[in-house]
Amino acid sequence: MMATHTRKDFRGAFDRLGAALAAPLLLVTLVLSLLAFTGAASAQQAVRTGDEVTSETPVDGLVPGNTLGDTSDADYWRAVRSGTQGFVSIPDKKAGTLVQSEGEAWRSFRNGPLSLYASWAILGTIVVLCLFYALRGRIRIEHGRSAATITRFAWIERFGHWMTAISFVILGLTGLNVLYGRYALRPVIGDEAFGFLTQVGKYLHNYLAFAFMAGLVMIFVMWVRHNLPDRTDGKWLLQAGGLFSKKLHPPAKKFNAGQKLIFWSVILGGLSLSLSGWALLFPFTTHFFSDTFSHVNWLFGTDLPTSLSVLQEQQINQLWHTIMAIFMVCVILAHIYIGSIGMEGAFDAMGSGEVDLNWAKEHHSLWVDEVQEREAGRRSTAAQPAE
Ligand code: HEM
Repeated sequence: MMATHTRKDFRGAFDRLGAALAAPLLLVTLVLSLLAFTGAASAQQAVRTGDEVTSETPVDGLVPGNTLGDTSDADYWRAVRSGTQGFVSIPDKKAGTLVQSEGEAWRSFRNGPLSLYASWAILGTIVVLCLFYALRGRIRIEHGRSAATITRFAWIERFGHWMTAISFVILGLTGLNVLYGRYALRPVIGDEAFGFLTQVGKYLHNYLAFAFMAGLVMIFVMWVRHNLPDRTDGKWLLQAGGLFSKKLHPPAKKFNAGQKLIFWSVILGGLSLSLSGWALLFPFTTHFFSDTFSHVNWLFGTDLPTSLSVLQEQQINQLWHTIMAIFMVCVILAHIYIGSIGMEGAFDAMGSGEVDLNWAKEHHSLWVDEVQEREAGRRSTAAQPAE
C-alpha cells in the first residue's frame, strides 16, 4: 500500500516537471532547427552560385546533379580526355593530367613506323655495303705496300677515337636491344637470359653515355681544324673520292671530304644524341624541344608548339633520340666498313698509328706533302750550325 502511494507521488512529480520543461525544450528545439536550416542554406550558397541550377531536373539543357557547375559531364570528360591539366595539391603536378593521349600516339609511333623504318634503314645500309664490296672489292694500295711508314695519329688521338668508338658500339647494341630485343633476342635466348642481359645493358647504356660524350669532346677539339671545308673538297666529291675507280686518287689533306662528312655527322649527330639522351637520363628537367621549336618558329615562321608539357617533352625526346641513333648507326656502319675490310691499309691509322707511305700518298697526298715539308724544315733547322 505504502509502495503504491509512493509511485503515484513520483508520477505526479514527473508529470509536473515534464509540463514545466516542455515549453523551454520546444523553444530550444525550434531555435536549433532554425539555426541548422540557415547553416545548411549558407553552406549550399558556398558551393553553388546564384545562377546555377539547384533542382535535379534538367533546366535549359544543364545537367541534373550540377556537380560541375555550368560544365556538362560530356564537356568535363572531353577536357580530361584531351589532356587538360587539373589542380592537384601533391608536389607531382603531372598527376593533374588524368589522360595523356600523346602517350598512346608516342607508343604507336615508336612501336610502329619508327621501329619498322629504322630496321629498314639499318638493313638497307648493310645491303648497300655488301653490294659495294661485291662490286668494287677491297680497295687496294694501288702501288703496293712500301718499306716506309708515316705517323698518322698520335696515341692521344687514337685514345679519343677508341673511347668514342667502343662506347658508341656498346651504346648502339644495348639501345637496339631496347628497341628490338624482345622480338629478336628474347625468343632465342629465353626470358631469364634476356632479362639479365637487358638489365646489364641498361646500366651500360646509362653510364657509357658519359664516356661517349667525353670522347666526342676530345675528337672535336683534336680534329676540328682539319675538318673545316676547303677547295679540295669539291674536287674530291665530284670524283666521288675515287671510290668507284681503281686509278683515281683525288688529292686530300689530313681528312678528305668524305671523312669530313663523317666527322660532322659524328659531332652534330652525337651532340643531338647526347642532349636527347641527357633529357632521358634526367627526366622532366629539360625543355629542349619547346626551346628548339620557338627558335624554329622564329626562323621559319612555322607554328610548332612551344609550351609542351614535361611529358610531351619526354616523349618527343625519346623519339628524337631513336631517330638520331639510327642515323648514326647507319653512318658508322659505313665508316667501320671503310676503316676495316673495305680498304687495305686503313686500319693501321687507328691501330698502330703508322700508315704505309704509299697508302698515305694515294689517299691523302696533300697531307703527306705537308708533313714531309714540315719534317724537312725541322731537319734543316736542326742541321744549322749553332752560332
Ligand atoms: C668500331 C669500329 C671502328 C673502326 C674499325 C674505325 C676505324 C677508323 C679509322 C681507321 C680511322 C682513320 C681513317 C684515316 O686514317 O683516315 C677512323 C677515323 C674516325 N673515326 Fe672511326 N672506327 C670505328 C668506329 C668509330 C665510331 C663508332 C666512331 C664515332 C661514333 C668513329 C669516329 C671516327 C671519326 C670521327 C674519325 C675521323 C674522320 C674519319 O676518318 O672518317 N669511329 N676510324
